[in-house]
Amino acid sequence: MSSQICRSASRAARSLLPSAKNARFFSEGRAIGAAAVVSAGGKVPLFASNFGNSTAGNISRSWICGLLALPAAAFMIQDQEVHAAEMERTFIAIKPDGVQRGLISEIVSRFERKGFKLVGIKILVPSKDFAQKHYHDLKERPFFNGLCEFLSSGPVVAMVWEGEGVIRYGRKLIGATDPQKSEPGTIRGDLAVVVGRNIIHGSDGPETAKDEIKLWFKPEELVSYTSNAEKWIYEQN
Ligand code: RTP
Ligand code: MG
Repeated sequence: MSSQICRSASRAARSLLPSAKNARFFSEGRAIGAAAVVSAGGKVPLFASNFGNSTAGNISRSWICGLLALPAAAFMIQDQEVHAAEMERTFIAIKPDGVQRGLISEIVSRFERKGFKLVGIKILVPSKDFAQKHYHDLKERPFFNGLCEFLSSGPVVAMVWEGEGVIRYGRKLIGATDPQKSEPGTIRGDLAVVVGRNIIHGSDGPETAKDEIKLWFKPEELVSYTSNAEKWIYEQN
């Protein structure tokens, strides 16, 4: 019961806090977040009264729990939402050659070790029609048909990665389109040889990322969560 009360208090604290959109403004100082909680103190009895059939003793415990939990929850949520506002997402796919060559874990680990966060993943064989939608901007190129045949020829691991600068830096991790020109240390530089079998796809900009994520994933297939490692990856001095 008391943990339920604390969860309710934490939800209540969230409702008092700024949305992710305003998180940057509120990140100016924790004092502002604290003030928001304190000044909204008058609303607390409403949360307590939500615990309907509590006895008088339980209500007073819920008060204490709520009052203690609010500022702590407020700080935690505030920190999380500051990050949420800065995070971007990109679409990354391991193409059929990468899957067949057993490179899934190698590729996932390069993004993971960098500090990016996996928020969506699935394996599927796309239809040719779907591949054509994905590569629609290349439809005038001579290799378009072969490219789409290839993408739809076997399993693809579709992923969404999240992190600060992940769209641009994801492309750096991947390397140049032609593996002959990719730097050593990049995924294509280390693991591929020719342009037609360059094992991985990554969105090339914010608009493409948005479109590709929408094409490959339903919103409910993406998971928003705070990783425990984030404070070690993003904290500033
Ligand atoms: P991707 O979309 O797969 O991440 O690759 P990219 O941005 O680095 O390169 P893009 O120009 O979008 O090309 C998409 C894929 O088409 C194949 N390609 N073949 N034969 C060729 O000259 C040629 N050029 C590109 C590659 O598989 C490339 O990844
Ligand atoms: Mg591309």
